[in-house]
Amino acid sequence: MNSKPCILVTGGTGFIGSHTAVALLQAGFETVIIDNLSNSYHEVIDRIDTITGTRPAFHRVDMRDDQSLNEIFSLHQFDAVIHFAALKAVSDSVDQPLLYYHNNLVSLLNLINACMQHKTDKLVFSSSCTVYGQPEQLPVTENTPVQKPHSPYGNTKKISEEILRDCSAASLLNVISLRYFNPCGAHDTGLIGEFPIGKPNNLMPVITQTAAGIIPQFEIFGNNYNTPDGSCIRDYIHISDLADAHVKALERLIRKQNDSCFEVFNVGTGTGISVLEMVNAFERLTGIKLKHTISGRRAGDIEQIWADTSKAENVLGWKAKLTLDDMILTAWKWQQQLTQKTVYTK
Ligand code: NAD
Ligand code: UD1
Repeated sequence: MNSKPCILVTGGTGFIGSHTAVALLQAGFETVIIDNLSNSYHEVIDRIDTITGTRPAFHRVDMRDDQSLNEIFSLHQFDAVIHFAALKAVSDSVDQPLLYYHNNLVSLLNLINACMQHKTDKLVFSSSCTVYGQPEQLPVTENTPVQKPHSPYGNTKKISEEILRDCSAASLLNVISLRYFNPCGAHDTGLIGEFPIGKPNNLMPVITQTAAGIIPQFEIFGNNYNTPDGSCIRDYIHISDLADAHVKALERLIRKQNDSCFEVFNVGTGTGISVLEMVNAFERLTGIKLKHTISGRRAGDIEQIWADTSKAENVLGWKAKLTLDDMILTAWKWQQQLTQKTVYTK
């Protein structure tokens, strides 16, 4: 391995990309970020600099523009790419499927083309446990069959994996696809975190915004599921643990330790947490009573899912270290500094 391999991080000012950029810089990688800032802010670069003491190179690029993307590849010699850039709001994808297919798939195709032209053959891809749908058996392993996605967003992940699998089979690329479970929490400095533009849909920002008084009360979507307390179960994973999984995946590719040219790993904790357990834990840790109602089930929700993480542990050498309490406390710290002062101006 070169002393400082150069990594392109697409979507690197976003939630997962920014935490991964921090982890990469701290692990000694040269890091170049591209993003079109459609769902993030330039100020994130300053925050990464403050946390790590190193300012990553940043280029504002829309990945649908293949010419601009190729120019970035001409400016730097990338050893590998981590591809985060995508639109990710499930309900928006139902309303605007063409936007989602165009953004997420054209960006990927342009990226693969640029990699080919510039001889970058290592790529880590952001996939999602959404590809498993509601599995028949729990926990899910990487061999659990992929199901028909519930949304155009989910379909972009399934199709992207298929494109990457085919390109790697044709010896164009070495790919590791990381299937994230439910990322949440924030960096322990409180300097970077999730910044949902508009009304949040995911449970953790809904909870922290309710606690901050931004949302008057929230709904728990269903308490009559076939689970111990009737609410849905998910495998929540701390964003900093998730960032570390990317560093491990990258090191595996750079050291040529991959067993095949297309590998998949589940990235979760292996523990299922119910919505009610999450609410109770937040109230216990912060002393804040969360105003909520129990409403009907949300369309498209699955009942329960959590990961079998043994492949990530045994093959990738990665295991989540942080707890549910860490996820809640860092997410709350992040929310509090967001409401105390205005951050992130476009
Ligand atoms: P995010 O929206 O915070 O970050 C994505 C970044 O990509 C944003 O900064 C956005 O501006 C950028 N982007 C989007 N389209 C672009 C384009 N055409 N050109 C350049 N930049 C573009 O989302 P995130 O939560 O950090 O998610 C990162 C990746 O992980 C996405 O691919 C997402 O689908 C995937 N993922 C996220 C979750 C989750 O719960 N957050 C779960 C599973 C998978
Ligand atoms: C959702 C997406 C999934 C995506 C993931 C991460 C759907 C159907 N799935 O997963 O494709 O990969 O986000 O971005 O949207 N909940 C409430 N009240 C709320 C919000 C959530 O009760 O106000 C519950 C949900 O019913 C669910 C759990 O909290 O049981 C987690 O929800 P969420 O954070 O949206 O994640 P997922 O539904 O797992």
